[in-house]
Amino acid sequence: MRLSDRIDLAVTHAVRIGQAHPAPSRLSAALHYAVTPGGARIRPTILLSVAMACGDDRPALSDAAAAALEVIHCASLVHDDLPCFDDADTRRGKPAVHRAFGQPIAVLTGDSLIVMGFQVLARAAHLAPDRAMALIDVLATRTGMPFGICAGQGWEGEAEIDLAAYHRAKTGALFIAATQMGAIAAGQDGAPWAELGDRIGEAFQVADDLRDALCDDAELGKPAGQDDLHGRPNAVAQLGIHGAVARFDDVLSAAISSIPACPGEAALAQMVRTYADRLVPAVARTAIPGE
Ligand code: IPE
Ligand code: IPE
Ligand code: MG
Ligand code: MG
Repeated sequence: MRLSDRIDLAVTHAVRIGQAHPAPSRLSAALHYAVTPGGARIRPTILLSVAMACGDDRPALSDAAAAALEVIHCASLVHDDLPCFDDADTRRGKPAVHRAFGQPIAVLTGDSLIVMGFQVLARAAHLAPDRAMALIDVLATRTGMPFGICAGQGWEGEAEIDLAAYHRAKTGALFIAATQMGAIAAGQDGAPWAELGDRIGEAFQVADDLRDALCDDAELGKPAGQDDLHGRPNAVAQLGIHGAVARFDDVLSAAISSIPACPGEAALAQMVRTYADRLVPAVARTAIPGE
């Protein structure tokens, strides 16, 4: 089965848990709306790719881990778009959840999806209890405080921002979760895989800054130009377009070099490179140096 089909099935299965009778119908519909159709599904794709590189001997546990990570990512986007955060009207090419269902339902959708992520892992725990406990620990660490996406959003409310800590928490955290959870689901120690996730997260953040600066709303499926609008520090403002592309290439090479020795190392390196190439908008590579 293709990775994208594994991910879609696992996410659908997870959301169905929350839609069982007698679920309130609008919140139930909003859960589905928030995860379907998905975006790039890059985090669960990395998770499953690492699991496969490590042998993927409990595929049902890897699928549960992939779904858990993706529903928590979707939750973070639902909350991020709320008026009290970025006040964004669109997400993935359609009205944001708070625009389609109202703010109370959007808050509850994010809350429900976060809980669902841990519930999915708890229900898969019988497949390998020790691995499931470690998966829950990593996912909690990279979701909450002080190293998770909650911390990332929290940094935006500080007068003084520690840029490295902000980016590592906001964006890097779920990539670190992806690589570590993939290894753990396949029975390996997660620790040696943190660096790969950290570096992919850094590269992803630079590419995201380039897309935010260079693409329009229609291309992104969400409001563009947000970094400038909110006065957020970003790679394009710091380094210029050319410098940001060079930074992306450097970090990506470092990411690939950091892949721990494992049976599927070469295939994993190829997968990271293929996905990464799609992240940087083509126009960034043709920009005039110094622009
Ligand atoms: C958006 O992540 C949030 C950031 C951390 C920049 P993605 O660009 O992976 O969003 P989707 O899942 O593809 O919509
Ligand atoms: C979203 O970051 C990150 C999280 C919700 C953890 P951004 O606000 O920078 O991303 P977009 O542009 O809305 O996707
Ligand atoms: Mg935001
Ligand atoms: Mg946002």
